[in-house]
Amino acid sequence: MTFSIPKDFLWGGAVAAHQLEGAWQAGGKGVSLADVMTAGANGIPRQITAEVEPDKFYPNHEAIDFYHHYKADLKLFAEMGFKCFRTSIAWTRIFPLGDEQEPNEAGLRFYDDLFAECHKYGIEPVITLSHFEIPNHLIRKYGGWRDRRLIDFFVHFATVVFKRYRKQVKYWMTFNEINNQTNYKEQFLLATDSGLVLDADDPQSEALMYQAAHYELVASALAVKVGRQINPDFKLGCMLNVSPLYPATCKPADAFQALKAMQRRYWFADVQTLGKYPRHMEAFFKANGLRADITLEDRIVLEEGTVDYLGFSYYNSLTVAAQSDNPEYHFVGPEAAVANSYLATSDWGWPIDPLGLRYSLNWLADHYHKPLMIVENGLGARDEIAADGQIHDDYRIAYLRAHIQAMKTAIEKDGVEVIGYTPWGCIDLVSAGTGQMSKRYGFIYVDRDDQGNGSLARMKKDSFYWYQKVIKSNGQDLS
Ligand code: BG6
Repeated sequence: MTFSIPKDFLWGGAVAAHQLEGAWQAGGKGVSLADVMTAGANGIPRQITAEVEPDKFYPNHEAIDFYHHYKADLKLFAEMGFKCFRTSIAWTRIFPLGDEQEPNEAGLRFYDDLFAECHKYGIEPVITLSHFEIPNHLIRKYGGWRDRRLIDFFVHFATVVFKRYRKQVKYWMTFNEINNQTNYKEQFLLATDSGLVLDADDPQSEALMYQAAHYELVASALAVKVGRQINPDFKLGCMLNVSPLYPATCKPADAFQALKAMQRRYWFADVQTLGKYPRHMEAFFKANGLRADITLEDRIVLEEGTVDYLGFSYYNSLTVAAQSDNPEYHFVGPEAAVANSYLATSDWGWPIDPLGLRYSLNWLADHYHKPLMIVENGLGARDEIAADGQIHDDYRIAYLRAHIQAMKTAIEKDGVEVIGYTPWGCIDLVSAGTGQMSKRYGFIYVDRDDQGNGSLARMKKDSFYWYQKVIKSNGQDLS
């Protein structure tokens, strides 16, 4: 047993198809949820329109046009020394509507070429099957994941791409941040996870979320089973958003609230790694009359389709306080969260907490006993081009340095098994939450603004050279 970053550690970067590819209609691509999301801003939610409306601006339509720039972009990733590149396959390039039998050959060819280009540089693709880009047709015709038929559509999509990229892709994840929907009062989170487009105060939203989540979990498990048959060497993972929940004080009621909120946010990982619903969720469903359509057959599938590794995003921790008027209130939403006076926040109000990453790694290792991959981490910040024409993003370097250090300590001192680290938005892209370009995460700057103006030219930031050094030294040189 060694307690250091392994030699074959997967250093890389992460993106999602809809946030960077653009070319939203190229090669017969269909309309996805991301194509009907308008631009929001800091604190202003994105609107979801039923169809594409001609007078509205949809930032993902063009994004950073990776579809036509991927060769040059991958060359830059290779220059940084990437060992892997996490992206998603846009479901609507392969199945424009989502419920067809025959896949779209032009869409499949795009990813043949993309993955071939990755391998040209020895970069291992790490692929998410569903990253907030469900076909819009599946939302409009079936109401999203509330309909059991989506399981078949998704598994068919998974089967087609598993077969097609059997030799090019080894690392897969089924659903991005499947647990975001726990916060079912936020329309954006429900829609992006489950294609449920509901009003925030819809009385059915909680029940529908649990139903939709269950169908997604069954679909995920079935995909894992199919993937294993297609190529036993595949590494099939799940993907969660992890923000550890701290109690606001050492008052037992606050600590208990934090514990219950953790249960309520992370039970998805119990299902995906251990193969069954935890007893606290079964009890919760019963107590709240939330018995969903969960068949015995589903339960067998869940047991048989557990994942090989657990991928997760980590940006920040959250802090919660007990609700004195209702001790059984464990919903994890903004109203239960309180500010943490020990932590600074980003310009978008996200707490900055590197130790929270070490905490999360320990917590996940203790609970799930699977190899872990940090598939998103980063700082959304505004970048300015300085007088010397460069971008001196020392704030981004400071954030990443502290988080990589926290990961290293978890590996070295806590014995946590981590197989990869792919910071989010390794090239500037459209923010999922706000639709902005100005919320930048990249090592590579892209000339495009929030209104869609700009040359799309790429430019290396200071963090580009810093990360290059980190990878070259296998995480030893963080200076
Ligand atoms: C994660 C998502 O929630 O956070 C990404 O998987 C997203 O798609 C990232 O872009 C950062 O969030 P935002 O809202 O700053 O883009």
